[in-house]
Amino acid sequence: MPTDEITAAAAGTWTLGDRTVHRMGFGSMRITANPDRDRAVALLRRAVDLGVNHIDTAAFYVSPGGTLQVGSGPPRYATELIRVALAPYPEDLVIATKVGFGYDPVAGFTEAFTPAQLRAQVEENLRRLGRDQLDVVNLRLGRGPGAVPLVDRFGALAELRAAGLIRHLGLSNVRPEQLDEVAGIAPVVCVQNNYGVDAYREQDEFVRVCGERGIAYVPFFAVAGTGRESGASGVQGEAVEAVARAHGVTPQQVRLAWTLHQGPHVLAIPGTANPDHLAQNIAAAALPLTPQDLTDLT
Ligand SMILES: NC(=O)c1ccc[n+]([C@@H]2O[C@H](COP(=O)([O-])OP(=O)(O)OC[C@H]3O[C@@H](n4cnc5c(N)ncnc54)[C@H](OP(=O)(O)O)[C@@H]3O)[C@@H](O)[C@H]2O)c1
Repeated sequence: MPTDEITAAAAGTWTLGDRTVHRMGFGSMRITANPDRDRAVALLRRAVDLGVNHIDTAAFYVSPGGTLQVGSGPPRYATELIRVALAPYPEDLVIATKVGFGYDPVAGFTEAFTPAQLRAQVEENLRRLGRDQLDVVNLRLGRGPGAVPLVDRFGALAELRAAGLIRHLGLSNVRPEQLDEVAGIAPVVCVQNNYGVDAYREQDEFVRVCGERGIAYVPFFAVAGTGRESGASGVQGEAVEAVARAHGVTPQQVRLAWTLHQGPHVLAIPGTANPDHLAQNIAAAALPLTPQDLTDLT
């Protein structure tokens, strides 16, 4: 089947709380890199046309200045581009955002710890996305312990959930013991961490534990890997290259197919500003890896 006829539905579905999504989604961090707003809007619409109904974002995905230090001109917020492209939103679209970090054009990156700061970030996401309720909010943890204990930060979000501003909660950049710490405060529907075929494989066990508990594991930088914000490195690893050659696909598609083969609860959110890459990434939802491929990629 030609690449652009494969839709995200080929990846199968997973349920985040009460919201069912295709396991192949889209990460919106990269769309702000494009100074041409119309192209970013077209890319988002194309993603939805290709069956994407799970989009990851954050109010601090803003260029120039925010997560990606690229471009010039007035700020382009991913959350606003999503609203312009997709509102009124399709019924089945789930937008996952994150709080705990913020970006201010004057102050730069800010960390949000107090209930008031977290509430302000939830409200910023609601405003920029043009929604009354956020589908999924990930509490994004930083490197340090934070000025306010995790249970209090998560508790503050649980209160906003109880108030109806948030439908479901998740955690990002989290360790297994931190998932245990928040148990009983509110359900965690997803964990979003840096993980890929050759990145942070010490989390293999955490991925398995999330599956056992019915929690989605949503790796970021599944394509970029250790290339992180700079993007996918030219060097894709010999095993990835070999499997790609054998299937006649790109190494990036192998990385995404590998991601989806890690369990029915593992969701892909690849990011790109390139429409051809978008179609290729979604087509990876239909790429079957053999047991031998998976062994070679271990
Ligand atoms: N929770 C967190 O702390 C956190 C942190 C970072 C990101 N995230 C989320 O995770 C998402 C995924 O990360 P990411 O956007 O960096 O995506 P990624 O998919 O891991 O990597 C994107 C990089 O790979 C390139 N790429 C993508 N598809 C490609 C293809 N088919 N062929 C060749 N190159 C390709 C992109 O360049 P092109 O644009 O040229 O395609 C870009 O440089 C983000 O969008 C964001 O939503 C979360």
